[in-house]
Amino acid sequence: MIDRFVSDCVNLYLTGTEWRGLLIDLFRKSDPRPVFEETAARYLGVSHATALASARLGLYLILSYIRQSRALPAKPEILLSAYNFFAIPHIIRAAGFEPRCVDADPATGNIDPALIEKCITPNTVALIATHSHGWPCPMDELQAICRSHRLELIEDCAHALGGDYAGKKCGSWGLASFFSLSLTKTISTYSGGLLATNNPDLHRFATEAVRDYPRPPAVPLIKKICLGTVADLLTTPLLFDLFTYYPWLLLDRYCPEVKEGIMTEPSSPVQIGSLHRSFTPFQSLMGIRQVPKVDDLVARRRENSLFLLRTLQPFSFIRPLKTDYAVTHSPVYLNLAVRSAKRTVLQKHLLRNGIDTRRGYFVHCASATGENPSLFPATQGLCDEVFFLPNHNKYSTDQIRRLGERLSACLLKPF
Ligand SMILES: Cc1ncc(COP(=O)(O)O)c(C=O)c1O
Repeated sequence: MIDRFVSDCVNLYLTGTEWRGLLIDLFRKSDPRPVFEETAARYLGVSHATALASARLGLYLILSYIRQSRALPAKPEILLSAYNFFAIPHIIRAAGFEPRCVDADPATGNIDPALIEKCITPNTVALIATHSHGWPCPMDELQAICRSHRLELIEDCAHALGGDYAGKKCGSWGLASFFSLSLTKTISTYSGGLLATNNPDLHRFATEAVRDYPRPPAVPLIKKICLGTVADLLTTPLLFDLFTYYPWLLLDRYCPEVKEGIMTEPSSPVQIGSLHRSFTPFQSLMGIRQVPKVDDLVARRRENSLFLLRTLQPFSFIRPLKTDYAVTHSPVYLNLAVRSAKRTVLQKHLLRNGIDTRRGYFVHCASATGENPSLFPATQGLCDEVFFLPNHNKYSTDQIRRLGERLSACLLKPF
């Protein structure tokens, strides 16, 4: 019986038999990458997918394609939500564009469609729609805005593998999209990404670009696999309950910044050269076996999340990022994002009571774009208040029901 709940698990879904099959397939001559790419493209409902070393490389390649395929103004700009992953503005700059922030919708954490047109200038070339925490952006609205201003629409689906908007998969709406396959995403190949598109020229461009990329160097790769395996073990619900929880609690009490640092990638500028690595046959074999599981994994996570959100309804000091559940689209709930003005004390109170949470790791990108952060109040609010509750698909319905009871009891106590 699990009594302590971990906020984030490593998302590797391979059974013992699948590992064995994978290791045997590794010694076959043919490269499994085309099979993985075809499996992913079919799942996403697009004509082409390219397997990459990371999602950020996907964005870089899409922007590089736009650079060479259309006439651009002298200072081309890309619009993005100010509430975003830290690396995105760096990649935009590295590809030769200026990132320009639009404030987020405080209800979803996604780019606010009502504010986009005010931010479009003659220099605007494209818009990035980030499906934050797996909540799909209103793609029909964004598509209409992009069409009427002749902007390219790019989807950041790092959190949205398995989601759809109005019955059409996230990642199949715009010129192109990019997905992450790092440790905590819907499925993982230790690290990695995908570029999806219906545009054959962009597909050809990306395939040619990655053709000569070297394999990742062996030592960092082995380190990553070892760290991933350790992280996978330590965040397995049972091991977290029996072992990891106690050191975690001590770390939170005496070195809270170290604890946050373990979970969050440092926001240092991205070195584009270090992204130029190939997706290995080992990763393709992992991907081939996990793509068919995505729908079941997401369905379980969604069910867990909706149950917990109902549990939270009586507590006005803790609000989910989205309250309108009667929607025609399917969120992924990669993280169950909630917000509270009392975030820090609340997180400590929950951890003392066996519920680990994680502070939201999106940052205010205006600091990176050189814009005035106070012009984006919704983003500031999200950065100050968002944290993630455990909603993982490794928890059964029964375990989530117990987590819900614990959560209610905890929130009724003074903290
Ligand atoms: C929204 C978003 N976009 C892009 C990325 C980059 O993904 P990767 O680490 O695969 O480059 C992340 C990583 O967490 C992310 O959260």
